[in-house]
Parts: sequence; structure tokens; C-alpha cells
Amino acid sequence: MSLLSLLACSLLALPALVAGSPLPPPLSYFRRNPITRREINDATVRRELGPLLSNGTLMYGPEQTAFDTMTERWNRFVEPDVRVVVVPFVESDVAKIVRYCNENSIDFLVKNRGHGFTTSLNSFSGLQINMERLAGITISEDKTTVLLQGGVYAGPVIEALWDEGYITTTGSAACVGVLGPSLGGGHGRHEGLYGLVSDTILHFNVVLADGTAVGVNATSNEDLFWALQGAGHNFAIVTSIVKTIYPRQSPTWYTHSFVFSQDKLETIFELLNEFHTSDNGTLPPLMGATYSSFAMNPSFSETEAVISVGFDYNGPAEEALAMIQPFTEIESLQESGRDVTFPEISGVAAGSCGGADYILSSAMLLEYNITTERLLYNHFNEKVAANPELGATAFLLHEGYATAGIKAIDPASTAYGHREENFIMLFETIVPEGSDLAEPATQWAKESVDIWNAGQPDRLPSTYVNYATGNEWETVESVYGHEEWRLQRLVDLKAKYDPLNRFRYYVPIEASP
Ligand SMILES: Cc1cc2nc3c(=O)[nH]c(=O)nc-3n(C[C@H](O)[C@H](O)[C@H](O)COP(=O)(O)OP(=O)(O)OC[C@H]3O[C@@H](n4cnc5c(N)ncnc54)[C@H](O)[C@@H]3O)c2cc1C
Ligand SMILES: *[C@@H]1O[C@H](CO)[C@@H](O)[C@H](O)[C@H]1NC(C)=O
Ligand SMILES: *[C@@H]1O[C@H](CO)[C@@H](O)[C@H](O)[C@H]1NC(C)=O
Ligand SMILES: *[C@@H]1O[C@H](CO)[C@@H](O)[C@H](O)[C@H]1NC(C)=O
Ligand SMILES: *[C@@H]1O[C@H](CO)[C@@H](O)[C@H](O)[C@H]1NC(C)=O
Repeated sequence: MSLLSLLACSLLALPALVAGSPLPPPLSYFRRNPITRREINDATVRRELGPLLSNGTLMYGPEQTAFDTMTERWNRFVEPDVRVVVVPFVESDVAKIVRYCNENSIDFLVKNRGHGFTTSLNSFSGLQINMERLAGITISEDKTTVLLQGGVYAGPVIEALWDEGYITTTGSAACVGVLGPSLGGGHGRHEGLYGLVSDTILHFNVVLADGTAVGVNATSNEDLFWALQGAGHNFAIVTSIVKTIYPRQSPTWYTHSFVFSQDKLETIFELLNEFHTSDNGTLPPLMGATYSSFAMNPSFSETEAVISVGFDYNGPAEEALAMIQPFTEIESLQESGRDVTFPEISGVAAGSCGGADYILSSAMLLEYNITTERLLYNHFNEKVAANPELGATAFLLHEGYATAGIKAIDPASTAYGHREENFIMLFETIVPEGSDLAEPATQWAKESVDIWNAGQPDRLPSTYVNYATGNEWETVESVYGHEEWRLQRLVDLKAKYDPLNRFRYYVPIEASP
């Protein structure tokens, strides 16, 4: 596996999930308020709800072995209190489940691919709706759109389209759902051309908080259409979408990666700043992304992190190599490149989706502050020396997507509040099982974000909703946008579409019911 794909998939290439469900609390747990008609437990839910739903719907209680698989998550620090799992088989089941929950004061939460890593999910207790059987992918006859059901994930969508010579905007990693990322915008390698994952959604079929099923698009429930494109986790359950597809640009992508020693840091980040403004102020749209990281690699040094830089180009090697020539002129420790298909670069074949005790933090930037990057790099080495167990898995990732497609869209036209940003930063480390290193890991995570934000003293901090971690330093404004009107509009739409705040677990706009 090349370093670049390691980088792009570094979040994935980890050990398989190990289930670990705590013992369930007493059965009266579902009774959130005194008007609940009577005691409800998971067996009751299954007995009563089962007959209302389509043949093919599955239900699991904690005593069943499959329950552990149904509730496992990428980040094991995220442990919503799931009392019963329902797996709808047809889209119309979803509305019935929500209505049943409402009638019985049961809270509900959608899980699709389980990569959502915000600890805000830990405030949940109730019935989990697993979307995996709603996995339909249907390309329209005229090959302009695809109908995706709410439980699809990137890998099968990328493959199904690629086989026909098409692509659509998805997140970068094959394991991750399509709706999860898109409800918060969704960043990926095609955004330089076509914008966010949400920017190419033409129509949503959703179930609202009160259990009604409605269609949402630019002419029907258009205010909700606005909200679903960037703040959608707070508003509805999506059972299917219609999304634009595009003929692929090239039969292959070209991926090239370097490993540099730390003395090249200033040169590299200055070049990255230039590269990311080289085409009318952005990265050339066909250069899907640059991924740059600081991480330990003992084959180069036991004490100094190396700097890895990768480029993913939507076209032939010669074109890409001409563009990245300034980087090839810097002396590197290692360098490699190859042609790949789009499914390959997305990690479709990677198999395992990983799972561990992750501590993360993130920031968004307009440009790289060279002084700051040096400070961060030194800070990283110091932290590795002080916390070698965390240092072994820690990295600071700098994601630089091509942004022309995002910036071509009026920022007021969707709820996504960060169209001006150019870079997404991520700190990640794994806390070894059974260790007490969560606290120093969180401290490291916070300090990294603080250093990044201090590098843009004239700007307010921003957090990409899908990289939000649930830590108190992430304000609602930093996540959903600093414009007052934008937040007010979201609050007003919550009052209209979800007055009881049923959707409040994934990075809530408003925390309490
Ligand atoms: C390894 C890894 C790689 C990532 N890569 C990218 C990337 O390239 N680009 C990017 O933008 N983000 C990326 N992310 C972040 C990603 O967008 C979020 O983690 C996202 O929430 C994952 O969706 P999911 O279906 O996998 O997870 P889940 O945890 O199942 O879903 C997360 C939340 O989305 C909501 N949700 C999901 N499906 C539906 C639905 N059908 N209807 C209503 N609500 C729904 C629910 O609120 C749920 O809590 C990555 C995360 C990880 C861990
Ligand atoms: C469920 O499916 C089985 C097998 O197809 C069928 O015999 C049964 O009648 C179905 N039940 C309902 C309620 O549709
Ligand atoms: C918009 O949604 C409505 C309601 O579902 C539907 O009737 C209409 O066909 C949709 N329009 C488009 C352009 O998808
Ligand atoms: C350059 O970018 C601006 C917006 O930043 C846009 O209005 C303009 O059309 C772009 N020009 C070209 C040639 O793409
Ligand atoms: C760069 O970051 C440093 C602190 O890390 C800060 O003092 C300086 O003002 C920043 N430069 C710019 C141009 O914002």
C-alpha cells in the first residue's frame, strides 16, 4: 500500500471492530416522561412494532449476539445507549417506526455506517434505526442521476457508477456512508469540479420528527432543502435521495506521495499555499486533493516526525507530474506514484473499516501559517516524547481539497456555513485499550486545535460538522457558521420541523429537548 493511500485511508486501516456492549440498564429506562402509557422493554417493542412493519424488517435486543454487530462503531468512545435495534426493509417502515416511538415516548437514532465520531451521540438512549437494508442504487435511464437509498455507503456507490463510466460526489473513504457526510456538506475528491456531496443532491425523501414522510427539493419544502444541505442531521431521517452523476473525466487517477524530513517544512507549506491558489485562487479542480501529515515513522526516525505529502490527480501521470514538479525538486526521503482507478483510490478494496478508541480534534483554515506549522510540528514531537504510546498512532492531517466547485455556489443558498475555508485539519490518536491515556490525548487534541486557530488571529475558529468531536471548545457558531442570520434560520427551522428536538444527538444545534 502506497504511503498516499495509507494517508488517505489512515483513518481506516485499523483493527476490526470488537463489540463491547455494557449491560443494559433496568427496563423502565425507556420511560422518559410520566405520561408513557406503561413499562416498555425491548421485547415489548419487538412484539408490538414487528407486526406493523414490512416482512424483512429485522429487530434485535441486547440478548442477541447480532446486537453487538448492529451497534458497533468506528470510535469506541462513542457508545449511545441502544436498547433495541430495528432494521427497516422498505422506506415506508421508517415513518412507522418514528410514529411508534413518538406514541410511546421512545427516543430514536439513525445509524448507518457508524463512523460518526462525535461524543454528542453518547447522550442518546432508546431505539436505534439501522439503515443498512435500504441499500438501493439505481442509475436513471438517461444517466443523469442516481437514486440512492438512505443506507448506502460510498464504496458500492463509487463502484456501481464507475463500472458505467460515471461518478458522483462522495466522501473520500469507501467505508463511510453517503448520507452521514452529505447532511453536513461532505468533502471528497470531486469537490473541485462539482462541490460538496450535498451540492449534487436534487431531491430528498425524508421522514420528519412527527413521523410524516415528505419529499424535499428546490420547489417542495424548500426551506428544509436548505437545512438538509449542511445541518441535516438535526432535521429528518433520509430514506432516499436523487443525486446528479457525471461522466468520469479519465479512466485513471494518478496518486503520488512523498516523505520529507522536518527541515523541509517551511518550503513545503509555502509551496502548498501557492499550489492551492494557483488556479484562479484555488487548487486546479482536477487535482482532487492534497493530503499532508505529521506522524512518527520509526523507519526514518525514532524522535522526529516525518512530513508526508500526497497528491490525487483526476487524470494521467504526465499532467499531474507537471503540476507537482516544484515538490519533486525538493529532496525527499521517499517518493512514489502510480495510476489507479477511482474505486482503488477510494479504498474500496481495503476491506476492514477499523474501530478503536479514538481521540480527535479538528479545525478549518484559509491558508497555512508557516510559523504555526513549525510550532505545531515541534509541539507534536514534544508530545510524542512525553506520551510514546499515543505518539505511535498520533498524526496531524492537513486535508486540502480542490475548492472551486464549492466556491462556485452561493454560500447563502445552503446551510453549509464554511464555503470560504480551504483546508480541513485533523488530529487523531488511539488510546490503547485499558490505558488511562484518554486525558493526555484530549489535552494534545485541544492544544493542536488551539495552535492552529492561533495561527489565524483575525478569524473566528471553524469546525467542520462531520469532524466535530463533541468537545466543549466547539461552539454551535464554529460548527454551523458565524453569521447570525444563518444560525437564526436554523433555529427557526428547528421550531418548524422539529419542535420537540427529536434530532438532537449528532452535533445538535440545540442541546436539550
Ligand atoms: C474513516 C473516516 C473517514 C472519513 N472521511 C470523510 C470524508 O472523506 N469526507 C467527509 O466529509 N467526512 C468524512 N468523515 C466524517 C463523516 O462524514 C462522518 O463521520 C459521518 O457522520 C459518517 O457517516 P456514517 O453513516 O458512516 O456514520 P453514522 O455514525 O452511521 O452516521 C452519523 C450520523 O449521520 C446521521 N445519518 C446517517 N445516515 C442518515 C440518514 N439516512 N438519515 C438521517 N440521518 C442520517 C445520523 O445523525 C448519524 O448519527 C470520515 C470519518 C471517518 C471515521
Ligand atoms: C412474509 O413473507 C413470507 C414469505 O415470502 C410470506 O409467506 C408471508 O405471508 C409474508 N407476510 C406478510 C405479513 O406479508
Ligand atoms: C419535488 O418534490 C415533490 C414532492 O415530493 C415532487 O412531487 C416533485 O416531483 C419534486 N420535484 C423534483 C424536481 O424532483
Ligand atoms: C475565478 O474565480 C471567480 C470567483 O472567485 C469567478 O467569479 C470567476 O468566474 C473565475 N474565473 C475563471 C476564469 O474561472
Ligand atoms: C501566524 O501565526 C502566529 C502564531 O502562530 C501569529 O502570531 C501570526 O499573526 C500569524 N500570521 C498571520 C498572517 O496570521
